[in-house]
Amino acid sequence: MRFILLGAPGAGKGTQAVEIKQKYNIPHISTGDIFRSNIKNQTELGKKAEGYLNSGELVPDELTIELVKDRLKQEDVKNGFLLDGFPRTIPQAEALDEFLKELGIKSDRVINIDVDKKVLIERITGRRVCKNCKASFHIAFNPPKVDSVCDYCGGELVTRADDNEEAVRNRIGVYESQTAPLIDYYNKQSLVLTIDGNKSPKEVTEEILKGLDK
Ligand code: AP5
Ligand code: MG
Ligand code: ZN
Repeated sequence: MRFILLGAPGAGKGTQAVEIKQKYNIPHISTGDIFRSNIKNQTELGKKAEGYLNSGELVPDELTIELVKDRLKQEDVKNGFLLDGFPRTIPQAEALDEFLKELGIKSDRVINIDVDKKVLIERITGRRVCKNCKASFHIAFNPPKVDSVCDYCGGELVTRADDNEEAVRNRIGVYESQTAPLIDYYNKQSLVLTIDGNKSPKEVTEEILKGLDK
């Protein structure tokens, strides 16, 4: 299956991705995670992307589209994929459609996780992510079993560089102006499954898996 996760910063895309990728046995491709690992390793791409991520702006389309196309050419994508954080602009969505068309395939479903704006900032400022496997936790809403330790791999939990209130507000604004129009874009292709993301992580997972089964 080929799925796209859509949703504002902090909506729970990364959290839900863990469950979806397990159920469908498909790779989770998060452009944010790919950029962050390039920044950590100070690659050419990482150096170009760093300023954008830290301020909450989008990395330019040309760079992002090339990155995703390269990733989608890899062997493990043959059975499908779960895109998280891509596409994020109309030109990115058009480029993805075109690329998949060249391969003779198309996206099966767009999972739109809808969360009230006031909840997003609370979620993001309390987030802790695993340095190793990138899993997301929350100090109050989804705490790890052991303080600062990842439940899945034992890795150290840290705060993301762009999880400060200023960058978060910017990210939410960028989402509203550039990414939210994708809901309409994919509605025209009848692909959108909208899920109420205000519920508990477990309830959200159940709704998504039920919706995808239909
Ligand atoms: P990216 O890494 O994609 O960040 P984002 O879109 O801002 O989304 P987040 O990862 O912050 O949120 P999430 O929805 O994954 O939430 P999570 O599950 O962690 O992108 C970062 C940057 O990279 C961008 O700003 C841009 O610069 C660049 N970039 C990436 N893709 C790009 C692209 N395509 N084009 C250009 N630039 C790009 O959950 C959040 C918190 O809430 C956690 O603490 C979690 O435990 C908690 N939580 C989750 N679900 C629930 C729930 N149901 N109830 C209570 N708490 C919950
Ligand atoms: Mg994420
Ligand atoms: Zn981990």
